[in-house]
Amino acid sequence: MAFLSIALFSWAFAVGGIAWKNGRNRKGTLPIPGPRGFPVFGSLFTLSRGLAHRSLAAMAWSRANTQLMAFSLGSTPVVVASDPHTAREILTSPHFADRPIKQSAKSLMFSRAIGFAPNGTHWRLLRRIASSHLFAPKRILAHEPGRQLDCTVMLRNIANEQKLHGSVCLRKHLQFAALNNIMGSVFGRRYDQKKDSEQLEELRDMVREGFELLGAFNWSDYLPWLSYFYDPFRINQRCLQLVPRVRKLVKGIIEQHRQLSESKMLSDNADFVDVLLSLDGEEKLQEDDMVAVLWEMIFRGTDTTALLTEWVMAELVLHPEVQAKLQLEIDSATRSKTLTDADVAKLPYLQAVVKETLRIHPPGPLLSWARLSTSDVQLSNGMLVPANTTAMVNMWAITHDPKVWKDPVEFKPERFLEAEVDVRGGDLRLAPFGAGRRVCPGKNLGLVTVQLWVAKLMQGFKWVQDSVAHPVDLSEVLKLSCEMKFPLHAIAVEREDTLLP
Ligand code: HEM
Repeated sequence: MAFLSIALFSWAFAVGGIAWKNGRNRKGTLPIPGPRGFPVFGSLFTLSRGLAHRSLAAMAWSRANTQLMAFSLGSTPVVVASDPHTAREILTSPHFADRPIKQSAKSLMFSRAIGFAPNGTHWRLLRRIASSHLFAPKRILAHEPGRQLDCTVMLRNIANEQKLHGSVCLRKHLQFAALNNIMGSVFGRRYDQKKDSEQLEELRDMVREGFELLGAFNWSDYLPWLSYFYDPFRINQRCLQLVPRVRKLVKGIIEQHRQLSESKMLSDNADFVDVLLSLDGEEKLQEDDMVAVLWEMIFRGTDTTALLTEWVMAELVLHPEVQAKLQLEIDSATRSKTLTDADVAKLPYLQAVVKETLRIHPPGPLLSWARLSTSDVQLSNGMLVPANTTAMVNMWAITHDPKVWKDPVEFKPERFLEAEVDVRGGDLRLAPFGAGRRVCPGKNLGLVTVQLWVAKLMQGFKWVQDSVAHPVDLSEVLKLSCEMKFPLHAIAVEREDTLLP
């Protein structure tokens, strides 16, 4: 009884909930406000179901806690920023360069990969390898033929499906193109849907399982004592089963590359495996670290590109006037020749359309992976975030805040023609790739791929809503990223004078 009373008493006086007890939120000149949530669980119920970015935004707006709001996830103290100024201070602070690591990420070897490696020599080495080798501009450029090839196959498959069924379900085409494209860049291997169907199915299954495990909300991450008797999704067991399958596949590919690459000089269009194998001296990675890094790239590169393209296409189907304007831009700039990355870079309206989609549907509305403070961090508004606090940025709340964006729920790409906005981390009003030292290293690759594919989908077809059988529904579902809840279907009308394969 005494224990229960003390626990209830601490909770009742803890702004932000039980993880903020003993005045943890009052270390600065300005206390961090926040909801108490429930005893023991804190705000776990709010975050475990539905659309966490929307629930957190509603809480922050209704309590006027947009600068920073404290809450508890079980015993984990969390802050969330829903305003660009505080978001910048958090994302660019060197004291927020760690990430809290989920049990599933640890079990799936991700603690040695870039995204979850703690700030330190290993992580710095991986970031250096990423920027100077894997995502170097010359390598991204050299992989353009792969992007073109995967898009050509996709356009052909779309035309076939349209002929057969009178409409197209775009998601599976985008997912296949994105998977093949990242497999090509990372492993130098592309799959044929018919000839390699068995291998492809195994790969898809592994990627799908990994997504589910990493994206699942695991209560034990916040209430560690639960793990002894409550694991409804069998996360631990499934991770243990997946790891050897991943190791076998990736190690096999590394071994094949090793045998072939001994005498080969590294070319600009080398795949990531060859790049990692070519590293020497202090840059050389151990084999297990290579497996983790390569597998993470497959993970991060596949879903983000496919689902962002799907959101762009959904908005274009819903806004025929925007689609027509975009097609006019593409046609007048390129006539009917094959579109290249270089052409696409000169299409301002296309870039505005992609930016507007990133604003309305940021693929990581809570920037996917949170940060962790490594020491006390003093913010300029007087609040102090203590060491070992999980910090989130609610990018969705920022991009839907009428104080930051005029008419935030309206799809208006023109707003980006009026003012230049850097979406790569320089302007926190729209930072879908994060910012600071842990900003997404794949942002340039992601953007060139999405822009090229959207341009080619627009050049090849007019996209019309299938209003009777499959009206476009913009409902969201939040997994590892925020996806369309219902896959996009549309009628793809072939355009005249286009270069369809
Ligand atoms: C539309 C495409 C993409 C979006 C919206 C996106 C978004 C993000 C975001 C929000 C973060 C967290 C940044 C932060 O904490 O500040 C991130 C990290 C990361 N992304 Fe991306 N990403 C995309 C594409 C890619 C691609 C294509 C790759 C690789 C092939 C990639 C690899 C990574 C990695 C490795 C990290 C972890 C970085 C670190 O912790 O140091 N991403 N991404």
